[in-house]
Amino acid sequence: METPVARGTVDRCGCHRYMADMNDSVDTLPILVVPDPILKARAKPVTEGDLERVRDLVPRMFQTMYRAPGIGLAAPQVGVGLRFAIVDLQPDDTRAPIVLINPEVVNRSEELATREEGCLSLPGQYADVTRPARVMVRYMDVEGAKRQIEAEGLLAACLQHEIDHLDGILFVDHLSALKRNMILRRLAKELRQKRAEAM
Ligand code: NI
Repeated sequence: METPVARGTVDRCGCHRYMADMNDSVDTLPILVVPDPILKARAKPVTEGDLERVRDLVPRMFQTMYRAPGIGLAAPQVGVGLRFAIVDLQPDDTRAPIVLINPEVVNRSEELATREEGCLSLPGQYADVTRPARVMVRYMDVEGAKRQIEAEGLLAACLQHEIDHLDGILFVDHLSALKRNMILRRLAKELRQKRAEAM
């Protein structure tokens, strides 16, 4: 999710260990942009056999997300069709990375909340999205431990946005067709202009 300002309570987890040796030598990954078909596909659950690959990708995904900059990045956005995502709201400018493997929303409030969302796969595009105000998310961390987060505010929106990516759903899919098409046309036009400028 592309949003510059971030605040919220974050459950710190074992991914700090994987972040410890991260520096400028960690490569970034290319971020796929709409309309790449991988972004519309349903990702596969992470199995025991995938964990090594996930652990290898996680530092590069964080590097990619921090550089973008963004506060969330799902594996399909870097071309990996597995159900995991990273989030870091960086409250008070400190890093608070979360790695969510096979995340699932197990409870959602009836109360809704609307906030502006953006996405690194739809660069420069923003719109108000309405979602449940609070969610409970179950997931596995990079150590393979089962975890649970209760979230509200920005974190709740961010978690739902990232989990949506694992089901091939983008924030624009929550908008009216009119609004969605307007954003997609504007993005396509901006990307064409950018390409033309680069030539
Ligand atoms: Ni996104």
